[in-house]
Amino acid sequence: MSRNSVVFGCGLAVALIAGWVAFPRALYVKQQQPIEFRHKMHAEKSGITDCAQCHAFRDDGEFAGLPANDTCAGCHSDRIGTSPAEAKLVDRYIKPGQQTPWLVYSRQPTNVWFSHSVHVRLAGLGCTDCHGNYGDSDRVRPYEVNRISGYSRDIWGHSMSRLGRAPGDGMKMSDCEDCHRRHKVEVGCLGCHQ
Ligand code: HEC
Ligand code: HEC
Ligand code: HEC
Ligand code: HEC
Ligand code: HEC
Repeated sequence: MSRNSVVFGCGLAVALIAGWVAFPRALYVKQQQPIEFRHKMHAEKSGITDCAQCHAFRDDGEFAGLPANDTCAGCHSDRIGTSPAEAKLVDRYIKPGQQTPWLVYSRQPTNVWFSHSVHVRLAGLGCTDCHGNYGDSDRVRPYEVNRISGYSRDIWGHSMSRLGRAPGDGMKMSDCEDCHRRHKVEVGCLGCHQ
């Protein structure tokens, strides 16, 4: 190999590392969830395996989203185990009557209108179609915010190139539209932007 190609190779490697490793680190700010809630372990320990027990649809059909602490207080009004995560839930939030300030990975910008009722109840889609297997995961991951747009990283997804993304990773406008195209659903601009 000539000296020039070695120099070029090193330069390329540095640029690639900068692009693929350093750039995402600089672009996203990480925040930790307030409590280490682990779906998989919780299902095993508590026996609650039905998502709807915590992520319910209200009587008017609206999706309640993340559970309020009333949902947890039935079992966690006092500590029942010895884990620090449960201790924080009980002492810091439930007993003082506070809500846990969970961070929402899939949060869309405020100009986007999205209905779980339409997608889950009417279209019969499963949670995994859009959220991957998060409901069966064994850890919370950090919430990452894009410094420039202020959007959650989950909008773009975790693959910088978006090639070979896992299903449910990323929910940009084009991702909503791709699925609508597959299902032959037509939604105008004002259907999603209200
Ligand atoms: C015991 C209550 C409980 C049950 C049962 C439960 N969850 Fe959750 N879920 C939570 C809590 C608390 C959070 C917030 C903390 C977190 O993000 O892990 C959450 C967060 C989530 C999120 C993240 C949403 C976002 O964008 O931030 C998804 C997706 C989710 N749950 C899906 C599911 C699915 C699917 C099931 C059923 C297989 C399920 N959950 C069962 C309590 C529950
Ligand atoms: C039906 C009862 C029940 C409900 C409702 C419930 N839990 Fe639990 N939870 C349990 C049991 C049982 C354990 C296991 C306690 C132990 O031995 O550590 C547990 C453990 C936990 C732990 C500690 C697990 C760990 O990672 O070590 C956390 C955190 C927790 N629950 C959060 C929640 C939150 C948040 C909610 C409401 C969204 C909730 N739980 C609702 C029964 C329940
Ligand atoms: C068609 C895609 C899709 C399906 C199917 C879907 N979700 Fe979501 N989910 C989203 C989007 C998009 C958001 C963000 C909504 C927003 O920010 O307005 C979201 C947000 C959430 C949140 C956070 C809500 C909040 O505002 O606090 C939870 C929890 C959640 N989903 C759980 C579920 C569960 C459980 C299921 C299955 C019953 C499910 N989702 C099915 C796309 C989907
Ligand atoms: C199926 C739902 C859907 C439809 C239809 C839709 N949008 Fe969007 N749009 C979104 C979502 C989700 C976002 C936020 C995520 C993103 O930026 O990709 C968005 C973002 C945008 C943005 C901000 C761009 C950015 O990168 O932040 C503009 C501008 C926009 N849409 C215009 C339009 C126009 C004009 C139309 C009609 C031709 C349209 N949208 C139709 C879902 C939709
Ligand atoms: C996995 C597939 C899938 C994804 C992803 C998806 N949708 Fe949909 N969406 C559907 C289907 C299927 C329907 C038709 C529901 C019906 O009428 O049966 C629909 C319908 C809609 C409607 C029309 C509601 C009405 O009846 O007026 C809106 C608005 C919409 N979606 C917004 C969004 C937005 C915003 C996103 C992205 C954040 C999104 N969708 C992502 C499958 C999807």
